Amino acid sequence: MKMSSLMPDVKEVLISSSEIQDKVRELGEIITRDYSGERLLLVGVLRGAVIVLGDLMRNIDLPCEIDFMDISSYGTGTSSSGVVRILKDLEEDITGRHVLVVEDIIDTGLTLSYLLRSLQARKPASLEICALLTKPSRRRVELDVKYLGFEVPDEFVVGYGLDYAGAYRNLPDICVLKPEVFAKA
Ligand code: IMP
Ligand code: MG
Repeated sequence: MKMSSLMPDVKEVLISSSEIQDKVRELGEIITRDYSGERLLLVGVLRGAVIVLGDLMRNIDLPCEIDFMDISSYGTGTSSSGVVRILKDLEEDITGRHVLVVEDIIDTGLTLSYLLRSLQARKPASLEICALLTKPSRRRVELDVKYLGFEVPDEFVVGYGLDYAGAYRNLPDICVLKPEVFAKA
């Protein structure tokens, strides 16, 4: 692939696009095996999970549907505000369904634990989490993540769906930005 014009803002590539693709394929195969014979509803958390959800579902060889939720725990900055709001709820009734929540990254875990509580109350047949990334050192609540891509250090990362102030989601790799990019904001 041609080099992204956003690369001058990047300090370091943490996970390359080919490593991500290999991992997503592997996760898709495991999910396919685990849910064999079932219909699956993938719930993407907007907006960061859109890219991983799109790649993941093409690696799941089962009848599968998608739905989205938008939850906000962050402003445009890089640290948690502690405020969690549902900005957009599901279109589907998940009662009795096998629900797999797909998230880009779990940081403090506050967003996802709130979301899981809300989904569990609707009585799905099963409810699990698939997260591309996790920052274990930042976790503030216990979360059982069944399908996990990679652990990343306590650094703000962008690319493959993850943004800084709305930008950089289209970088194909998971990257750390140069400090001067944050200084400009
Ligand atoms: P949590 O509630 O602290 O777990 O925050 C999770 C959400 O914060 C994720 O869904 C991301 O949207 C965002 N987030 C957390 N860490 C990062 C990061 O390093 N880069 C980009 N977004 C992040
Ligand atoms: Mg998110």
